[in-house]
Amino acid sequence: MAATFDVVFGGGTIVNADGEHSADLGIRDERIQAIGSLPKEAAGEWIDCRGLHILPGVIDTQVHFREPGAIHKEDLETGSRAAVMGGVTAVFEMPNTTPPTTSAEALADKVRRATHRMHCDFAFWVGGTRENVEEIAELERLPASAGVKVFMGSSTGSLLVEDDAGLGRILARTRRRAAFHAEDEQRLNERKPLRVKGDPSSHPAWRDEAAALEATTRLVRLAREHRARVHVLHVSTRDEMEFLATHKDVASVEATPHHLTLSAADYGHLGTKIQMNPPVRDARHRDGCWWGIAQGIVDVLGSDHAPHTLEEKARTYPESPSGMPGVQTLVPVMLDHINAGRLRLQRFMDLTSAGPARLFGIAAKGRIAVGYDADLTIVDLKRRQTISDDWIASRCGWTPYHGREVVGWPVGTVLRGVRAMWEGKLAAPARGEPVRFLETL
Ligand code: DOR
Repeated sequence: MAATFDVVFGGGTIVNADGEHSADLGIRDERIQAIGSLPKEAAGEWIDCRGLHILPGVIDTQVHFREPGAIHKEDLETGSRAAVMGGVTAVFEMPNTTPPTTSAEALADKVRRATHRMHCDFAFWVGGTRENVEEIAELERLPASAGVKVFMGSSTGSLLVEDDAGLGRILARTRRRAAFHAEDEQRLNERKPLRVKGDPSSHPAWRDEAAALEATTRLVRLAREHRARVHVLHVSTRDEMEFLATHKDVASVEATPHHLTLSAADYGHLGTKIQMNPPVRDARHRDGCWWGIAQGIVDVLGSDHAPHTLEEKARTYPESPSGMPGVQTLVPVMLDHINAGRLRLQRFMDLTSAGPARLFGIAAKGRIAVGYDADLTIVDLKRRQTISDDWIASRCGWTPYHGREVVGWPVGTVLRGVRAMWEGKLAAPARGEPVRFLETL
């Protein structure tokens, strides 16, 4: 019998919207062609997945890959290599590069650099500013645009729109769901004296929970006024979770692995490595983020992968930059939480594939279904492994989880039917292409 499928991923446990079941996945021309019990003769190549779980490819909707402008920290190739090494099949990259992604030309430049040089598929957030506000309708509809991202509080880079009038003008023009870094700039400026030189544990005292809650509250009010949809990135406080629970009609919610895993107690041994905006906070807030997951308030997980070199991180706080790598550790860190009973695999699947597809209107990704892109994250739920710096493919070369033993590991990353990573090794040349969105097809 002539092969019907280019490749079959055989005998794995499929994790999908309809639960878990054992099946073979037949792939042809980059798409899923059949799900079920498939004959070996029909497969050009048969890949044995017995004992493994197969999830729709993990989509990380918040990463910073630093190209152009700061490629000594990361570039699109190294960042995407880290992604596929960690089981991630698509990323949405942030606009705070140099120059920032605030024009059609800057977006086209990133797409050119990324296509077939990135190892995973990609989209790029376009920065919303006072200057480009009249172009927003056009910018958010360009191919490979994930939508508009706005910084309400200063972080790495120069992007900032902090006032209600400026934000309102942007929200009045967005038609897609726009994403926001919600920390209140005025409060951050007032509280700068609270930073203690040499003590990164003062970072959450400076950028406190009220700074986050005030910005999120303003954002939701403005979204209602302007009849806009908003996505609140990296929600880090219990207070915002409680508030956002009452605004699910207009606001979606991202949680991050670091806010779910680390707490203020970790500044003692990790120092500026875990300095991040918004900050890693005390355990009450970490538990509040878990509450948001358990209650269904959180829609997606994003790593907020924000690499800086160890040399930069070694500067004395607050001269040290905020941000830590995370795209490669998202899957293993969260699988470990699953094994510890904090989260179900099915919910993880929703947070990392079906959820992003639903929120952002991704075309033909986010579930295992015939006709969909054959993007798969293949994991061994029982594998015990220690995360270490020498496994990290990001150019920054370190992880805050160095030395952490986890149970659950990504063993394969399949991008449109081809293995990008298998058993810890890059398995194919880079084939990354733009993610397609229903609203921009
Ligand atoms: O800590 C952070 N670092 N938060 C951000 O919002 C930006 C990021 C970066 O780009 O370094």
